[in-house]
Amino acid sequence: MFYPLIRKALFTLPPETAHNFTISILRLAHHPLLNYVIKALLACPQGTEKTVMGIRFKNAIGLAAGVDKDGEAIAGFAALGFGFIEVGTVTPLAQDGNAKPRQFRLVEAEGIINRNGFNNKGIDHLIENVKKARFNGVLGINIGKNKITPLEKGKDDYIFCLNKAYNYADYITVNISSPNTPDLRQLQYGDALDDLLQSIKARQLVLSQQYNKYVPIVVKIAPDLSEQELVQMADTLRRHKMDGVIATNTTITRDNIKGLKYSQEMGGLSGKPLQHKSTDIIRRLHQELQGELPIIGSGGINSVQNAQEKMAAGASLLQLYSGLVYHGPKLVKDLVNAIR
Ligand SMILES: Cc1cc2nc3c(=O)[nH]c(=O)nc-3n(C[C@H](O)[C@H](O)[C@H](O)COP(=O)(O)O)c2cc1C
Repeated sequence: MFYPLIRKALFTLPPETAHNFTISILRLAHHPLLNYVIKALLACPQGTEKTVMGIRFKNAIGLAAGVDKDGEAIAGFAALGFGFIEVGTVTPLAQDGNAKPRQFRLVEAEGIINRNGFNNKGIDHLIENVKKARFNGVLGINIGKNKITPLEKGKDDYIFCLNKAYNYADYITVNISSPNTPDLRQLQYGDALDDLLQSIKARQLVLSQQYNKYVPIVVKIAPDLSEQELVQMADTLRRHKMDGVIATNTTITRDNIKGLKYSQEMGGLSGKPLQHKSTDIIRRLHQELQGELPIIGSGGINSVQNAQEKMAAGASLLQLYSGLVYHGPKLVKDLVNAIR
């Protein structure tokens, strides 16, 4: 109801300032009273429970990675009605990310370009925040590699984060699809992918015995994979018995935004211009995987209708980032109500 006004105010600020301001407000929701007030004000429905990867989700709508990178406002985002929250991407060491400005709103297109570059306070800080949050919903921890780590050693960073995150996550996302860490996307192909997933699977099995619990691992992929790369990806995910896949991250293409202000900025494009591209990837991936691995759909969801398109294409769960920026908590509420 109030979001159009709030959006107007937030959009007078640079995107990252508006983002940090929102996080600082939602952090307050750690206080039980404020948490109660937010929930009462939004009157968000519970939605329909769903079990995916052996995890019971309160509803199928999740917060995508990158919104709450350091896990600072988990309870606040949960209060908006999300059925699951994914924090991160987090790296072993804290890092500043790329120089600012590094986020751009393409308002006419309902898009965002970002080249943040995994700015985060490191895995130890994130885990402390997760502990403090005392959140009992479904939490995903999205892991990546530090920029200073050479690509050949990237695997060590993922294993380092996996070890630290395992006992605190309901599932873990291996992010190999951010376009803003040099060469990271190379990990999506051939031997590099094989080697990474083999090590991650082996480690998952060791950790599952150590902690006496199995934490599913999902891989987040780019929307820019070619047909052949997508087929190979599906085959590799299946061979290494990954538990799920998130399709998709942001795109490096600029197809639907030609001529718009900021369209030439470097980085990953998200929001409405990505919508069909990510749905197409979900559809193709679903055909390849034949339901063997669940797909978490992400990319340009901004209405019940296109959320349903992603479900019809084969997604089992959905995640939002840009839609939340442009449409606010009402979108979460509508989706939670409608998507099963
Ligand atoms: C500013 C910004 C930062 C992001 N940071 C991350 C990140 O750290 N890790 C990640 O896996 N995805 C990140 N993403 C990608 C989103 O999680 C999501 O997959 C993508 O934006 C597509 O969804 P959307 O169109 O709903 O935004 C980021 C997106 C944006 C806009």
